[in-house]
Amino acid sequence: MKSFAQKVAVITGAGSGMGRYLAILLARAGADVVICDVNTETLAETEKLLQRYNVAVSSIPLDMADKAAVEALPEQVIARHGKVDLLFNNAGVTVGADFESMTEVDWDWVMNINLNGVVNATRAFLPYLKQQPEAALVNTSSIFGMIAVAKQSVYHTTKFAVRGFTEGLAREFKGTNLSVHCVHPGHIGTNIIKNSRFTETDDDEQQKSPLGLNGSQTEMSDLFRDNGMHPSRAAQVILDGVTRRRSRIFIGLDAKLMDLAQRISPMHYDKLMPLFMIPITLLRNKKPMKDLPAL
Ligand SMILES: NC(=O)c1ccc[n+]([C@@H]2O[C@H](COP(=O)([O-])OP(=O)(O)OC[C@H]3O[C@@H](n4cnc5c(N)ncnc54)[C@H](O)[C@@H]3O)[C@@H](O)[C@H]2O)c1
Repeated sequence: MKSFAQKVAVITGAGSGMGRYLAILLARAGADVVICDVNTETLAETEKLLQRYNVAVSSIPLDMADKAAVEALPEQVIARHGKVDLLFNNAGVTVGADFESMTEVDWDWVMNINLNGVVNATRAFLPYLKQQPEAALVNTSSIFGMIAVAKQSVYHTTKFAVRGFTEGLAREFKGTNLSVHCVHPGHIGTNIIKNSRFTETDDDEQQKSPLGLNGSQTEMSDLFRDNGMHPSRAAQVILDGVTRRRSRIFIGLDAKLMDLAQRISPMHYDKLMPLFMIPITLLRNKKPMKDLPAL
């Protein structure tokens, strides 16, 4: 896709992190944006940030786990904007817990948002995307859709599946007007830990998070947000990948090196990871892009 001007983009999980900055950057590039999130407060904040751009904005509270609401979304978008050119299936959550201590409720929570939400939204929007001369479907997996760590089994289940689903669709739509992209971010400084669920245990060893962070969820959330790549930069990488029709979009040197590690050593990549994690953390650009709000 050469330009985002005059396009209509739907972004799920637009109340925070990469989804918020996708909306801002797309609006800045002249696209009308439809922002959706389950969190109505943060969604309203994003809507406010978009007021400075001269584009049409629709703000729709939406729980990606609600199949009927997801299926009803395209008609709302068409009624307001007349078409859809881009769908960003960005909303996502995680549960930090080993499989045996994870409740089925938590398991289903992640599956319904991260996987079923992506599949249902894709199914609902495909007929409309296919009508456009130039359209894009952008599904967010993770570097955790390439490699696995302990205490993230449900997240891996969804993100490996989103990758498989999206790579399959990329082949089905190859050579058509619809480009299909799978996004694999490394560590991006967003609110994902704050917006997710973690099982607290008394055992010190158990409290170690898979991301190398320790402490309460609030402490982990602050550390995670403050030490990742700034989400505005991540959103820019995604949009560059869409412009260049990249089917796999890695974000950050950490994601690229973790992918390389699993290619070199498919079963023992975890042993290679500590070698490069510290320099990468120091090199990461944690500042927002110029002329964009910090949050
Ligand atoms: N931050 C990272 O390091 C990282 C790394 C790899 C992949 N990802 C993926 O990137 C995507 C964006 O996450 P982020 O890091 O910007 O996190 P974030 O928590 O800052 O933003 C995610 C947004 O999704 C929304 N959301 C949660 N449940 C929802 C639901 N049921 N329906 C609709 N919206 C819902 C949240 O309210 C939030 O606004 C996710 O799919 C995540 O899994 C993030």
